[in-house]
This record gives sequence, C-alpha cells and structure tokens, in this order.
Amino acid sequence: MSIPVAIVGLGVAGQIHARTLAATPGAKLIAAADLDEKRRAEAARAHGCRVYPHWRDLAAAEKDLAALILCTTTQERKGPLLACAERKLAVFCEKPPAHDLETAKTIAAALAESGTLNAAGFQYRAHPLAGRMKELAAGRRVLAAQTLLARPMFQLVAEGKAPKAFYSKAACGGPIIEQGSHFVDLLRWLTGDEPVAALGAGDLGDTHPREGRDCEETSVAVLRHASGMLSTHIVNWSHAKTLLQMRLLGADWDLTWDVGKPSRLHGHVDGKPVNEQADAEPFEIELRAFLDAVRDGDAAKVRCTYADACRTLAACIATAQAIERGTTVAVPNLFP
Ligand SMILES: NC(=O)c1ccc[n+]([C@@H]2O[C@H](COP(=O)([O-])OP(=O)(O)OC[C@H]3O[C@@H](n4cnc5c(N)ncnc54)[C@H](O)[C@@H]3O)[C@@H](O)[C@H]2O)c1
Repeated sequence: MSIPVAIVGLGVAGQIHARTLAATPGAKLIAAADLDEKRRAEAARAHGCRVYPHWRDLAAAEKDLAALILCTTTQERKGPLLACAERKLAVFCEKPPAHDLETAKTIAAALAESGTLNAAGFQYRAHPLAGRMKELAAGRRVLAAQTLLARPMFQLVAEGKAPKAFYSKAACGGPIIEQGSHFVDLLRWLTGDEPVAALGAGDLGDTHPREGRDCEETSVAVLRHASGMLSTHIVNWSHAKTLLQMRLLGADWDLTWDVGKPSRLHGHVDGKPVNEQADAEPFEIELRAFLDAVRDGDAAKVRCTYADACRTLAACIATAQAIERGTTVAVPNLFP
C-alpha cells in the first residue's frame, strides 16, 4: 500500500521530489501547495493531486497524510514545521533548515519534544560514493579537507532561469549558507569531526552585474574542527560550469570525490590506488530513505535529521559572520 504524501513549495526542489514520488511505488503524492497558481496547476496536471495556495490551507484540509515534504523558500519554514510537530506528522525539510539559529533551535526542540519523525535535505550524504569515501576514511586521521562548489548561479539569474533571491543574502542566506552548506554538511558526516571555529573571506566580484547584489561571487571558508583538522571550502557563483569536489587528506592517504554524472572517487589508500565510479541520484535515494523510515516507523533510516542539519547551519552562520567581520568566529554547540 502507498503512503499518502504532500509537498509544500513546488519550485525547483519541490518539483524534483514530486518526480521522485511519481517513480516510487510505496508512496503517492496526494496533495501539494504553492503560492503560485501556475505551479499548482502544473502539479495537479502532472500528478493528479489536490492543490492549495498556502500550506495552511493544505494542513487544514488534509487530515490523512503520512508525511509532508517541505520545499518552501527558507524564510517560510517555522510555521509549517511547528504545525507538523503539533500533529506529529513526519516531515522532510529541504536544506538549509532555517536562516538563523534561534528559529532552527525552536523548530528542532518542537520536533524532538513531540517525537515527530523528521529529515533534512542534505542529499550528498546519500550518494553511494559518499558512503564509500566514509568507509575508506574510517579510522584514519584526516589532516585537512578541501571542498569546491562552483556554479553559474548569477548567469542563471541573468537568464531568468533562477530566482533573483540568489542576489540577496536576506532572501537566500548567501552562498555559504544556501549552497556551501552542502559540503560543510558532507564533511561533518564523513569525518564526524565538528567544526569549532570559522574564518572567511568573500569578494563580490565583477563577472556579473553587481547592482542590488550583496551575495559574493567567491566565498572562502576555513574551518577548524574539534580534532585540529582544518578544512577549506570555496563557493563560486560565477563559474560557467558546475564543479563539485570533496577531498580528504591524511599523512599517507588521500581521497577525492568528483561529484557529477558519473561521479568518480579517486586517490590512494594503504599504498593502493582508488578509482571508482558510480552514477546515482542522491536526491532520490535520500527521499526514499525518508519514506522507508515513515513506512517502517524507523527513524534510524533517515540520512540527515533536522537537528543534525542545524549543526551544519551553525558552522555556516559562523562562517558568514566571519566573512562579514573579518575575524575568527566560534561555532556554537547548539545541543550541548
Ligand atoms: N537539496 C538541494 O540541493 C536543493 C536544491 C534546490 C533547492 N533547495 C532548497 O529548497 C528550498 C526551495 O528552493 P527552490 O529553489 O525550490 O525555491 P523556489 O523559489 O523555486 O520555490 C519555493 C516555492 O515555495 C512556495 N511557497 C513559499 N511560501 C509558501 C507558502 N506559505 N505556502 C505554499 N507555498 C509557498 C513559493 O511559491 C515557491 O514556488 C530552498 O531552501 C533551497 O535551498 C535545495
């Protein structure tokens, strides 16, 4: 039997998850909400689901849901997540979990107190090569890590293919929180080594028009982790192509994951070369893991919980503050 699921927010993320649901026999998209009439009409046509303009309308009308997938803009998270906690409705929330730590902590506390099954959308954890990298790195000391996330975001905005929100820190959180958080999260998951302090630098750049834009073209973060490991994270939103890379460096081993299609994991471990490839859709794997968790009532199947995503957010907010202030910022321990 299929479990009944709803999606709130039918933008880029919501549409990806709707397609995954359509291809997942154990779940059915029965309802969706979006402020935009065209997006509602398209979802109703493509998926035959009931549609509502606002999440509150959906919540009031749909009483038999097994799970809700929340893909609204990041500012619109608190209301629907607290409503899910109140009725103990399992919820998958797209990343980042919030734009500020106070909101994130309030939501995490409500989900924990009510015992509501929850997940957050940091999908790179779900890629098979991420699992393989974690397996190969297990028990080895990581001295340094390096991540690169380059995407033509400003070009896409200029072409009308991405929302103007990517120009504004108030709207999207800024490059480190909106997208750099993916690899900060992945590194936390791979190593279990929590970031404790952040340094950063950012440059507005001039590859694309700057009028009304406060999101940096290039942001660089340096994180110190609890073990002493240092990591650097470069985010660039003006590169013509998408380049995604995660590298771990030990004294006598190294692993690099070039994330793409197909993805390649390469390096040297125990004096032997590593060279593996895999083609996978991590978005699909993570959502299906959440749906399995809901169906089986087994929270352990979730790849990333909301509270775990909040720890990643804490490191990214500290980095964004370090960029603004030009000083080192301590990463707060959110759940001591
Ligand atoms: N995991 C990933 O790789 C990934 C990819 C894309 C987006 N995201 C995240 O997903 C979120 C949404 O991003 P997007 O690019 O899809 O944005 P988007 O602007 O394309 O879509 C958001 C949608 O939410 C709707 N919405 C806002 N408030 C609402 C409300 N009160 N009720 C109903 N609908 C409402 C808007 O009308 C809009 O259509 C962001 O937090 C983003 O960071 C994650």
